[in-house]
Amino acid sequence: SPTQRVGGAPSPAFGSVTHREPMLSLENAFEEGEVLAFDHRVRERLGLDGPIVYCAEPKLDGLAVSLLYEDGRLIRGATRGDGTTGEEVTANLRTIPSVPLRLQGKGWPQALEVRGEVYMPRAGFAAMNARLQAAGERLFANPRNAAAGSLRQLDARVTARRPLRWFAYALGAVESDADLPATHVERLAALRGWGLPVCPLNERVVGVEALLAYYRRMQARRAELDYDIDGVVYKVDDIAAQQRLGFVSRAPRWAIAHKSPAEEARTQVVDVVFNVGRTGAVTPVAKLAPVSVGGVTVSNVSLHNFDELRRKDVRIGDTVIVRRAGDVIPEVVRVVIEQRPGDAREVALPSHCPACGAAVVRPPGEVIARCSGQLSCPAQRRQALLHFASRRAMDIDGLGEKLIDALVDGGYVHDPADLYGLQAETLAALPRMGEKSAANLVAAIERSRATTLPRFLYALGIPEVGEATARTLAQHFGDLEPLMVADEAALQMVPDVGPAVSAQIAAFFAESHNREVIARLRAAG
Ligand code: IVH
Repeated sequence: SPTQRVGGAPSPAFGSVTHREPMLSLENAFEEGEVLAFDHRVRERLGLDGPIVYCAEPKLDGLAVSLLYEDGRLIRGATRGDGTTGEEVTANLRTIPSVPLRLQGKGWPQALEVRGEVYMPRAGFAAMNARLQAAGERLFANPRNAAAGSLRQLDARVTARRPLRWFAYALGAVESDADLPATHVERLAALRGWGLPVCPLNERVVGVEALLAYYRRMQARRAELDYDIDGVVYKVDDIAAQQRLGFVSRAPRWAIAHKSPAEEARTQVVDVVFNVGRTGAVTPVAKLAPVSVGGVTVSNVSLHNFDELRRKDVRIGDTVIVRRAGDVIPEVVRVVIEQRPGDAREVALPSHCPACGAAVVRPPGEVIARCSGQLSCPAQRRQALLHFASRRAMDIDGLGEKLIDALVDGGYVHDPADLYGLQAETLAALPRMGEKSAANLVAAIERSRATTLPRFLYALGIPEVGEATARTLAQHFGDLEPLMVADEAALQMVPDVGPAVSAQIAAFFAESHNREVIARLRAAG
């Protein structure tokens, strides 16, 4: 019953607890080589040649606690503290529903210290932060801070409202361990039998290759778990072997943490440049001192639009926190204001396009600023050509960024129609091109003449016309001619085409330059 779990009045401060057995930390491995070396050391020390049996476990990203049970009753609970002495937080731990106040079953030692991790599930964290925000209170930065902050509340009634959970992952001091199983995996199973929650993703694995496979599997599943993990832990399964291996300073020789790459990193903004996209959108991009985050090196990060740049107040010279979780595109989380240098430079939206010098316009109320140069702008031309040639459009194999740059810069290509007049000799003379690749490209351009109407429409890069819209337009009009002369009312007869899209399509075909390019494309076959 909750009334049994929540104690009385707030305690003024936490008492301190000396752990009966110190709470150790773990050595870290960041690379596979370090895990191989760990396994090698273990085998060498144990004098074993064959594969070692391990228990592999997620490394839960919360805070370590130690629970003391005597005669099956929860007597005391404490945080790790410095490993020797922690804070007594029994009243708070009692409010966590998955912390049993009494052990179940039988066979538990008279005195049993259980170690584990208190954490906050992601969903609970999000809901709690939403509640705090609605109440105008300070938010927690992440589930780990939220778990730590919640467990260290002086009023257990506050802790009781926080969605905390825990998993047991080890035993501390026991009185006596004579009757306990001889392996870690079996001991965890015993804990589970006594009603203590154990992470269901723990696995008995044999040999170092299986450890690495476990790590990769957990990395892949990381995003879908309902709690944060910051790596995995490998533990020698045989308790007698653990005892033979012993400890170095504050960490056991029989275990190691294989850490996930950090998802956040700090770095400097070296510059802010403005990129011009296919539709002329002028996008600020922060150039960073290269930094490894989430397992890849990041040196450019989009700030999306000028408002976003202003909102985050990113200045040249600033130190920023960059985040990249899983497959997500990297982003600037925030500026570390305390580290802003005196000469940090604010960035202004350019009045003229950095690529062509045409005016940059930002209609009132719009977030996106655009270059007005359209196809006279080399940056827009490049992007338009890249899109035209892309796999889902005209699918011209081999026509990539570098080559398009060379063709545009050399003045050989201004618009997509120019591609169909390219000679193999011209191409072969370009940097990094030979006769063979030139002939291949000419053949690929040749093949693209036999395309479909939906692909062709999509390739034109009409604003608001993606693949799906291109398909419905092709289906509805059947041919290019009737589509080109359709007015907005006629266009709106097409399923899913509303006023915004029809206006863009009509404007595109009304533009004489676009009509001219289309005419030349048709003439080229
Ligand atoms: S075992 C002697 N197992 O990691 C071994 N620790 O870096 C003691 N942690 O303070 C730790 N998940 O807070 C172990 N499955 C797991 C763990 C785990 C998270 C934390 C724990 C410890 C820290 C050590």
